[in-house]
Amino acid sequence: MDQTIDGTGFCGKKTLISLKGISKKYLKNGRDIVAVKDCDLDIGENEFMVIVGPTGSGKSTLLKLIGGFETPTTGAITVGDSPVKGPGSDRGMIFQEYALLPWRSVLQNVELGLEFQYGKRAENKALAMEYIDMVGLSAAVNKHPVELSGGMKRRASLAMILVTKPKILLMDGPFNALDSKTKLTLHTEITRIWKHEHNTIIFVTSELDEAVKLSERIAVMNRDGRISKIFTNDLPRPRFGKAALEPQFHHRFIELREEVMNEVKAAAGKTVCDYGL
Ligand SMILES: Nc1ncnc2c1ncn2[C@@H]1O[C@H](COP(=O)(O)OP(=O)(O)OP(=O)(O)O)[C@@H](O)[C@H]1O
Ligand SMILES: [Mg+2]
Repeated sequence: MDQTIDGTGFCGKKTLISLKGISKKYLKNGRDIVAVKDCDLDIGENEFMVIVGPTGSGKSTLLKLIGGFETPTTGAITVGDSPVKGPGSDRGMIFQEYALLPWRSVLQNVELGLEFQYGKRAENKALAMEYIDMVGLSAAVNKHPVELSGGMKRRASLAMILVTKPKILLMDGPFNALDSKTKLTLHTEITRIWKHEHNTIIFVTSELDEAVKLSERIAVMNRDGRISKIFTNDLPRPRFGKAALEPQFHHRFIELREEVMNEVKAAAGKTVCDYGL
C-alpha cells in the first residue's frame, strides 16, 4: 500500500486504518438511534489522531467499531489490507469504563495482557512492573481494583494495554478525571511511547487542551454522529516543558484551541457544558 492521506490537508503518511461510509444504528425502545453517520476517515501509520465532540456524538462508538467490538450497520473498516471483523491483538483498546478483573491485583491484571499475547513467561513480571512504574502505581501493585481510586484504575488499565505494545492504540478518555500532575506525566509518556514504538493512536477526549497538546490531527464529531471537521495540528514538538512557554508557541496553542472550540460549539448546539462553557 502506498496510498497517502488526502482530502484533509494531511499528507505523507501511509493509510493504516480506513473507514468508508461507516454508520452505526442502535435500536432502543423500538426507536433507531444513529450513533455514527456516514464517516469516511483515513488514519495514517504512526498518526496521533484525537477525536472530540459533544456527549453522545458517537466518539466511543467510532472507537469500538475500529476496535472490532461493534459491527457497522453500513460501510467497511480496514486495517492495512484486512477488513475488521472483530477485535485483534494489533488493536489495544482502553475503554471509557475500566476493564480490570476485580479478583486480580494490579500486577496480575497487567500481567494478564502479556499472558494473553505470549502465554506465561518468566519475563512477564519484570515487564509488567516496568509499565506499572511508568503509570506511577508502584506502591499499589498488590492492591485489587476495589481498593483503587478511579484515577488509579485508569492508570492500571493503561499499563495493562501499553505493556502489550499494540500497533494501534484506541484510547477512550484514558486520562479523564486524573489530577493535573499525573496527567502531565502521562501526556509526556504517551508522546514518548508513540514516538518510540511508532504506533498509531486514536484518542478520544473532552478536553481541548489535551487534544491540542497531543494530536497531529483533531476530528470533531457532531450531534448527528458525523465528523464535521478535521483540523491539522501544526504546533511544533516538543510541546511540554520550556518549549510550551515560548510566546509564539503559546499564541498558536491558544489560537488552535479556539478554532477547535468554535467547531465543537457549532457541533454541540446549545449543550456545551462538557467543554466548560
Ligand atoms: N449499546 C448501545 N445501545 C443503544 N444506544 C447506544 C449504545 N451505545 C451508544 N448508544 C447511543 O449512541 C449515541 C452515541 O454514543 P457514544 O457513547 O458513542 O457517544 P460519546 O460521544 O462517546 O459520548 P460521551 O462523550 O458521553 O462518552 C448516544 O446517543 C448513545 O446513547
Ligand atoms: Mg464516550
